[in-house]
Amino acid sequence: MVKNFNLMKIKNITCIGAGYVGGPTMSVIADRCPHIRVTVVDMNAERIAAWNSDHIPIFEPGLDAVVKRARGKNLFFSTDIEAAIKSADCIFMSVNTPTKTEGEGAGRAADLKYIIACAEQIARSASKNTIVVEKSTLPVRTAEKIKEIFTKNSQYTFHVLSNPEFLAEGTAIKDLENPDRVLIGGENTEAVSALVDVYAQWVAKEKIITTNVWSAEMAKLAANAMLAQRVSSINSLSAFCEATEADIDEVAKVLGSDSRIGSKFLKAGIGFGGSCFQKDILNLVYLCEHYGLTEVAAYWEQVIVMNEWQKKRIAQLVIKKLGGSVKGKKIAVLGFAFKKDTNDTREAPAISVCETLLQAGAEVVVFDPKVSAQKVQADLAHLSAHHTQLKSASSAPEACVGADAAIVLTEWDQFKSIDWSSVVTQMSPQAWVFDARNCLNHAHIKTAGLNLWVVGKTPTK
Ligand code: NAD
Ligand code: UDX
Repeated sequence: MVKNFNLMKIKNITCIGAGYVGGPTMSVIADRCPHIRVTVVDMNAERIAAWNSDHIPIFEPGLDAVVKRARGKNLFFSTDIEAAIKSADCIFMSVNTPTKTEGEGAGRAADLKYIIACAEQIARSASKNTIVVEKSTLPVRTAEKIKEIFTKNSQYTFHVLSNPEFLAEGTAIKDLENPDRVLIGGENTEAVSALVDVYAQWVAKEKIITTNVWSAEMAKLAANAMLAQRVSSINSLSAFCEATEADIDEVAKVLGSDSRIGSKFLKAGIGFGGSCFQKDILNLVYLCEHYGLTEVAAYWEQVIVMNEWQKKRIAQLVIKKLGGSVKGKKIAVLGFAFKKDTNDTREAPAISVCETLLQAGAEVVVFDPKVSAQKVQADLAHLSAHHTQLKSASSAPEACVGADAAIVLTEWDQFKSIDWSSVVTQMSPQAWVFDARNCLNHAHIKTAGLNLWVVGKTPTK
């Protein structure tokens, strides 16, 4: 029986999960919708304390200012999950959905334990009919499981919508404030239109796409798979360019000027990282196998195979260029985050490259403008046998002191203006610069007398 169902206007939003998506997304909703009270909750008390402090837990350009404008007015961060569920008429689930590490589908399927715990807690604590929004990236047909949890455990009515998030880290605020599109999947038109109304406060209606729930869940996985596939495609061609004297920049320019192909996501590099691409493709592969689509699964899996190959290929190439062994050699690693303008290191290619170099006996000195030395140590803690070889520096020039090579793994803007003519005087004779992101001033490096290797460019003999 449906009671007290007033879905026409969303006035109180609660978001469960104060991470890289929940925090920025809710901050922008609160900023753009002053009439809506937004509460972000998390079971991680330390994270919530940081959101309430002057040092918010995520580095994201523009986020600080948005949080400062809305926090304490209509934006709140709290650990009182139960109270926040009770007071909400719309609840976003923005919890993590990592790859399963054990049980059926381990290494491929998404682990839904956090989303299930979240749904169970909503069912236990809700005090009225509520709209529940899947903001996390989820396997197709998860909404069905969530509905079952609600039906079994609560007397209230819940409308489950899928509203996957397309923001990219490093540009999250720009992406949220001016999205290419907002996607809302749902069956109940009243619930869908209530959520459309929230986004319509700042997003043009033509950009708000409504679909059925399964298409929305599916489209998110598909979008990430297509984007990652472009990165693997251009990286495969980078190796081909290096072998043939073709130049990846020239090739990418030609490809990108075809309006059917488009110019974005054609930057060859060290391979994609981040918490989404690999996990979501693995999940897609798992689902394809589940539905008996073996060839489709193999097709998408190749995107990951190519990505792994690129990371290993470049790390091995560094060893080869340094004479076939890096034992006892010092290598400066410039950049540890998975891309510029974020402090996130999840699945960062730097982890894989450092692993290879440390295991080969190199001394590795890491500098990243936003990733702390402790975080680097934690990400490489599984290599405890090599921990004395791992050091950190507080600037790029400092990392290069005494180094046989510097390898650029994140395209931070500040690396473009490194004064190589001064840095070279502190490096070993015959030192190398490996530009695995193709982001440096190459003429300047050559003039400084350093050996240079650039991804996708044929090495000068
Ligand atoms: P995250 O790990 O940064 O944050 C998730 C938060 O949820 C954590 O702080 C965790 O403590 C909290 N949490 C987990 N279970 C909880 C529970 N039962 N109750 C209260 N809090 C709980 O993850 P994220 O990067 O924000 O990603 C969240 C989701 O969004 C994932 O499904 C991800 O695939 C998707 N996504 C991420 C990005 C991105 O750029 N990071 C972009 C689009 C979509
Ligand atoms: C991605 C999607 O872009 C976003 O829409 C989704 O919501 C979450 O996953 P994110 O992982 O934060 O976002 O960053 P993205 O800009 O996509 O970069 C992912 C990885 O690909 C990074 O390691 C980046 O350096 C790499 N990349 C991207 C390239 O190597 N070349 C490119 O041309 C683009």
